[in-house]
Amino acid sequence: MDVIKGLAGYVGENLGLLAPVDQAWQPTDFLPDLSAEDWAERLTKFRESAASLSDDVLVVLVGNMVTEEALPNYAISLNQIVKDATGTGDAPWARWLRGWTAEENRHGDLLNAYLRLTGRVAMRRVEQTIHHLISQGFNPLRGGFDPNSEGDAYAGLIYASFQERATRISHANVARLAVAQGDDALARICRRIAGDEARHESFYTNVVGRVMERDPEGGVLAFRALLRGVIAMPGRQMADGRTPDLYDRFAAVSQRLGAYTARDYARIIGHLVGVWRIADLSLSGKAARAQDYLCRQAGRYELYADEVAAALTGGPAVPFAWIRPGSRGPIGRAGDIGDNAA
Ligand SMILES: [Fe+2]
Ligand SMILES: [Fe+2]
Repeated sequence: MDVIKGLAGYVGENLGLLAPVDQAWQPTDFLPDLSAEDWAERLTKFRESAASLSDDVLVVLVGNMVTEEALPNYAISLNQIVKDATGTGDAPWARWLRGWTAEENRHGDLLNAYLRLTGRVAMRRVEQTIHHLISQGFNPLRGGFDPNSEGDAYAGLIYASFQERATRISHANVARLAVAQGDDALARICRRIAGDEARHESFYTNVVGRVMERDPEGGVLAFRALLRGVIAMPGRQMADGRTPDLYDRFAAVSQRLGAYTARDYARIIGHLVGVWRIADLSLSGKAARAQDYLCRQAGRYELYADEVAAALTGGPAVPFAWIRPGSRGPIGRAGDIGDNAA
């Protein structure tokens, strides 16, 4: 873990990628003000815009929200790299992890509140999905994360770089879909969250860039180990206690809408291989073979992207227990913000 510890100074330099708390946005900035005198009208207007969204967009939004709400899983996982024994440490890595967690925490909060207020989502089902996901825990690496292995720590940071970019893309695409369907409030929300993901992506990508400079052999071997399986999305284990293959169904809708696709997956890999200048590293032996492998992956995934897309979206469209049937119908009475508890 010497390389990771040795990056502390560089992590400190990158703490500026976190927004100062007093200047940071909060979920309240994007939601109807329920303390205002005309709160009922504000809420009605808000719900009218949300009523124009298709069920498919709502499904992607719920899946993205559930993924964000499982933040405790990612914080626990990253602390294996950060190794903040007390949870209040002053070291740059510890300060990053807390600051990152605090920023990410707003994403789930905001999407959760937005979806609840629309009245279109079976919130209790969604809450159960989140509950399942967090209690199951999360390990980004197949075979389990070994906190004492430098390679696994690198892979964890590479995984984080990948995921921040993937979530940025998905939130930004949902923003575009929201504009097209007439919900500008949702578009603003998703764009703002995507902006956070972009800063977080810069952090992890910068740090892994340093790993590739200081320990290129360990870095490329970890990257290859991660790519040898499909990089599982953090929400992979989501379950609502009712729908089989829930994640696959969500992924199919996401692919169909173009929110996050097999081609995005290929392009993220290509992007990371490019920014870390994997092709230019001077390596020999098995590290050189890993380097060759990495340089071929984006093209390989790009080649199969259409096939994967067809396989994902080939099945019939299925209803989701997350979405209230007929929720696009007449807009509920102002003030009717019941949470559909079963
Ligand atoms: Fe996030
Ligand atoms: Fe993120």
